Amino acid sequence: MLSSRIPAATVSDDCPSPERQLHFVTPEDLDCAWDLGLFYLKLPDDLDLESARQFGSELIATDSPYREIPRYGELEGFVALENNQQNKLALRRKRWGQHYPAHIAAVGRQLDAIGIAIIHEVFRQSCIPEALWDLASGGYASGGGDAFLNFVHYDTRTLDWGLRPHTDYGFITILDASAPGLQIEICGEFEDVPTLPGHLIINFGEALKFITAHSNRSVNAATHRVVSQRSADPVRHGIVYFANPDLDGILWQFDAAGDEQGSSKVQDLFAQLESRLTKTR
Ligand SMILES: [Fe+2]
Repeated sequence: MLSSRIPAATVSDDCPSPERQLHFVTPEDLDCAWDLGLFYLKLPDDLDLESARQFGSELIATDSPYREIPRYGELEGFVALENNQQNKLALRRKRWGQHYPAHIAAVGRQLDAIGIAIIHEVFRQSCIPEALWDLASGGYASGGGDAFLNFVHYDTRTLDWGLRPHTDYGFITILDASAPGLQIEICGEFEDVPTLPGHLIINFGEALKFITAHSNRSVNAATHRVVSQRSADPVRHGIVYFANPDLDGILWQFDAAGDEQGSSKVQDLFAQLESRLTKTR
């Protein structure tokens, strides 16, 4: 059973956010997380998600004023994803202050701090020299780059996948889900990733796999999906945070000696993955 093999980590919350540290109980747990591309993270004591969960649940109402937030390109605003049940309110970091209530924007910034702690541990394990972390991560490792804070739910009136199989395109995804449904692919088979009370689910994305590919320790980008949600199921809400590079930027691959091994436009990775998510099969 997969759930017994998913390691759980903690992030220290007794110091300022840039210095937070990710901890696993054993080195084997860290190895397992890096290989799966997925792990549980104990909710830090200072991160109270109750009001954010409430905010997300209220978006189901068709007269929610937040449904009037304008679309910004393909990615932002209130989005009903083609060929999937998932609906979401999605906004990147620079618009949190404009459109989200202050307490929701504050949650986004707390998730920024967790994302930075995680990517720092990935870089430490990779042995990529610290002086290159900012460049390699499109600024994310030092508080820049980009991030999305999204609130998702599933329209059970359509008989489709909750979310079709895909890998995330960014660095790190932080998920708070109210009900089961997430599965990851292991050796060609999809297995359930149960919700674990008091824990977030973390998964790694393609951009993180890409920038660590030539380092001393690469990560896996977990292929995952959300099974079709039925009206009889508990309503599945999710708070989803995506840690990303600057979407207009370039990703750089370095080895442990600090030598460049390759690069790619972020947009190229993104376009490829979006087409996987919305195509019908
Ligand atoms: Fe995903």
